[in-house]
Amino acid sequence: MTSSSFVRDLPSISGEQVAGKRVLVRVDFNVPIVDGEIQDDNRIQAAMTTIDHLVRQDATVILMSHLGRPKGQRVEELSLRPVAERLSELIERPVSFIDDCVGERVEAIVRDAEPGDILLLENTRFHPEDTANDPEFARQLARLGDLFVNDAFGTVHRSNASTTGVAAYIPAVAGFLVEHELQQLGHLVEAPNRPFACIVGGLKVSDKIGVLENLVTLADSVLIGGAMANTFLAAKGADVGSSYVEDGDGIKLAQQIIDLAEEEDCSLLLPLDVVVAQKLAEGQETQVVPADKIPDGWMALDIGPRTRMLYIVHLADAHTIFWNGPMGVFEIEEFADGTRAIADAVADNPGFTVIGGGDSVAAANQFKVADRISHISTGGGAALALLEGESLPGIEAILEAPL
Ligand code: 3PG
Repeated sequence: MTSSSFVRDLPSISGEQVAGKRVLVRVDFNVPIVDGEIQDDNRIQAAMTTIDHLVRQDATVILMSHLGRPKGQRVEELSLRPVAERLSELIERPVSFIDDCVGERVEAIVRDAEPGDILLLENTRFHPEDTANDPEFARQLARLGDLFVNDAFGTVHRSNASTTGVAAYIPAVAGFLVEHELQQLGHLVEAPNRPFACIVGGLKVSDKIGVLENLVTLADSVLIGGAMANTFLAAKGADVGSSYVEDGDGIKLAQQIIDLAEEEDCSLLLPLDVVVAQKLAEGQETQVVPADKIPDGWMALDIGPRTRMLYIVHLADAHTIFWNGPMGVFEIEEFADGTRAIADAVADNPGFTVIGGGDSVAAANQFKVADRISHISTGGGAALALLEGESLPGIEAILEAPL
């Protein structure tokens, strides 16, 4: 595969002499934590290449990240302390946790650190100035480093002080994870091997309208599943019973996508049949009904067997596949078959396959296919923003940073 133009002109960490420098690295350690226990450390592992490289090159590594959405308050459950412990286990070196991210005390600790040391600052979003992209706060962060490395792919679509603001004050480069993600996702938008099939599921059409518009333009087919399929079916005049249909502009947006797909000669595949129940809960009586004739009082909670077969056969012919969003409520066994079938079909495809988005990544892990996927993105919103063709503020800021 050729190098994607997304990375071609981007200053990279690989070209930097970092020995003896203090390197401030924005990572995305926004990982699920329940009762102090990290549930999934993929994002921490994904940052290891950059951290390891910097340590080996004798830089002092100062890591910063957000965790959750604490709205500018200190929220103990959203402390990054457990992440410092996990990182230390993974990298087999001490990681010093600092319980704030700016201020004189933090600056003094960073000043005293030695080459090869790793420091993790507390959640940047404990300060409202981070998401507000406050210039003074960004300047305070920038005081901690000689060089800024953005390796937080999951956050490149955010314009925060810790992702973009800081790059106004010190030289900035992309880390290995950011480069790798841009390279891999770039293949989807720049000359993908055809046929190129996309599978899009999830709740709302409006959440994914930008990406759907772009995908029907880029891809040869778009396969729709999940609750948003009901909104598409309703736009076509189907009886969807008590299924969730997006209110407001949902049906209008679905119709826009149907019309655009036709103009762009993209096959838009909708469910033929669905698994329905009267309640969204475990242990319910279920039946399989035509997707456009759902009885009153019943709701679609998964794609049905004919749809599974249609989608599997279709995906077998694809040379490039992108998957975002589950086909049904796969967390409940009765409604998991559709998502399981798609996970297997994507994994069985020998072409270039990409999964982006928290729920589909969780499904790939649950159905144990993750190691047979060409690329699993660490960014949900960020991957979609890229596929939507939006400019990514985190990348723009690197390109505009002082030399
Ligand atoms: C994510 O989980 O998608 C990223 O960490 C970004 O988080 P945010 O949507 O809270 O900015």
